[in-house]
Amino acid sequence: DSTGITNSGGADFIVVANRLPVDLERLPDGTERWKHSPGGLVSALAPFLQRNSGAWVGWPGVPDVEADKFSDDGISLHPVRLSAEEVRDYYEGFSNGTLWPLYHDVVATPVFDRAWWDSYVKVNRRFADETAKIAADGATVWVQDYQLQLVPSMLREQRPDLRIGFFLHIPFPPTELFMQLPWRAEIIRGLLGADLVGFHRPGGAQNYLWLARRLIGLEPSRGAVGVRTRPGVVQVGDRSVRVGAFPISIDASGLDATARSREVIQRARQIRADLGNPRKIILGVDRLDYTKGIDVRLYALQELLAEGRIDPSEVVMVQLATPSRERVEHYQRMRGEIEQVVSRINGEFARVGHPVVHYLHQSIDRKELAAFFSAADVMLVTPVRDGMNLVCKEYVACRHDLGGALVLSEFAGAASELTSAFLVNPHDLDGVKNAMESALELDPAEGRRRMRALRRQVLTHDVDRWARSFLDALQPTPEQII
Ligand code: ADP
Ligand code: F6P
Repeated sequence: DSTGITNSGGADFIVVANRLPVDLERLPDGTERWKHSPGGLVSALAPFLQRNSGAWVGWPGVPDVEADKFSDDGISLHPVRLSAEEVRDYYEGFSNGTLWPLYHDVVATPVFDRAWWDSYVKVNRRFADETAKIAADGATVWVQDYQLQLVPSMLREQRPDLRIGFFLHIPFPPTELFMQLPWRAEIIRGLLGADLVGFHRPGGAQNYLWLARRLIGLEPSRGAVGVRTRPGVVQVGDRSVRVGAFPISIDASGLDATARSREVIQRARQIRADLGNPRKIILGVDRLDYTKGIDVRLYALQELLAEGRIDPSEVVMVQLATPSRERVEHYQRMRGEIEQVVSRINGEFARVGHPVVHYLHQSIDRKELAAFFSAADVMLVTPVRDGMNLVCKEYVACRHDLGGALVLSEFAGAASELTSAFLVNPHDLDGVKNAMESALELDPAEGRRRMRALRRQVLTHDVDRWARSFLDALQPTPEQII
């Protein structure tokens, strides 16, 4: 029931996400600056919001920041404060120690901790309260991702006048796995506060509909959910909640233009020269996350080198890995393992001045990244599970020359769109090795044919199309307006 909050001077369109598109960085000399936040959500949504005026409610990325609202690149930013304890329990704990592994097929074991859950509830309420304060009457609010699944219901209680959408950027798990969660009904109910609940893939939407029946006793529609079409519907009292599939994408034409710039083309040449002008460059670009299968591709490379199927004097691999969630135990362990394999490969196969694997535990700026994509002959994207994966789409968008080859895991959401890639099962090391070898030896004409097909898909299905299709589906249907 409504508390009667309304706001005639507020924002008409609001994105609510765990992170703001910029993170506050505290430098050792005590000064502070804002920098681009990591991850696919920000890469996708920031360009969309810069083109369409709107507000963004989110956390500035460090604990205990009490910042006023400010403007950046045309977006009005509203920082939400989290204490150090909340960062530990809500963000590192429940979001990234419970939900992240549970939703990624339990590739790591999720921890179920009641104090973490309490913190998740408390922080979700804070995000809902902040949003309720700044939303104009009848505004559209778009809540993002697994960290904020209770916000739709909490917000609706306070502001029934709002149009509320929710989009999940990570996979929604098989129902058998979701059922492990002690707070499973609360999460399903939290999302039911939205008018539209969106997933990348129809399978996620279908799983959610099944759970709404099983856990809440509702009667969802039974037809198959389509991609961008035929959403499922759940009737909740007098409201209809739509549940659909909206595969996310990138600012493809923007990146295509960046990759065509003289500066990036020259930089790509320079990178190749800096690497010693090898015959082939292999590239990996990821947040350093255990779901990304960075270890898989390193083991595959190691075996191909050991078997003499790759010549270390001809092939170089670059792995760019953005630091991520560094205080969470699984991430620390994974980093140790990856760094050990990198040094083992170099120890065995490098020559002085010519490492086989160049590993950078750093975040790279967009133009530099475009130059790496342009320079890479083979791009390896091998997650064991990924909601979508934007890196593979970014690689394709940069290849206006129709060069390069993409090796892509079947377990990334993008695999159902990028069918002209070399699709691999990351659990099948021989399959990954064979695909890497085929990509390295690819006939140029066949490579161009594949890349043309990939580019057709990525350039015609960009982030604007994703956002428009979601926001159109969020509009009330004619009978709801009446
Ligand atoms: P996730 O959202 O899980 O991080 P995505 O592949 O969907 O995965 O998105 C990752 C985003 O982060 C992409 O836009 C990619 O370009 C960017 N990124 C990944 N690694 C780096 C890096 N080392 N430097 C700069 N950006 C990176
Ligand atoms: O969807 C993937 C995602 O978890 C986003 O929600 C998040 O912003 C991004 O990856 C980066 O992760 P984090 O915010 O934990 O650094």
